[in-house]
Amino acid sequence: MAKNHVITTINGEPVEYLCETSQTLLDVLRDELGLTGSKEGCASGDCGACSVTIDGRLVCSCLVMGAEANGKSITTIEGMADGEKLHPLQQKFLEQAALQCGICTPGMLIAAKSLLERNPDPTETEVRYWLAGNLCRCTGYDKIIRTVMDVAAEMRSA
Ligand code: FES
Ligand code: FES
Repeated sequence: MAKNHVITTINGEPVEYLCETSQTLLDVLRDELGLTGSKEGCASGDCGACSVTIDGRLVCSCLVMGAEANGKSITTIEGMADGEKLHPLQQKFLEQAALQCGICTPGMLIAAKSLLERNPDPTETEVRYWLAGNLCRCTGYDKIIRTVMDVAAEMRSA
């Protein structure tokens, strides 16, 4: 069967790829483009490990077909740092050890960044609700929530 020709933007760079109609965006990112930062935890929209943004909207890339990315702008975890400079969320996750095995971390970071772009001054409850779609099997939620709150405060005072 003919593959789909997709023209898109990923992390600010123009990207073209061919994909099967059955391939999800997560499959394409990981298997075709080598962007393995987005993780597959469930492949059913339950864990958030595959979170990316499409045209600024937070989505599970396992629930989006690769062909649907045509003409869209996608941001993955690989686009979060500014060259060698980590995003404040990435830096603080490291400093405050807000990760254990790290499988959920890319999705947590993408989701947290998306929250802070919309709401720079979230309450703890708002952070918890926003990240409710991101599961951490290592159950390090308290450190994650505290770190996102700390980064929000730091970014507001910067
Ligand atoms: S892999 Fe997409 S939500 Fe779990
Ligand atoms: S750090 Fe292991 S799943 Fe979250």
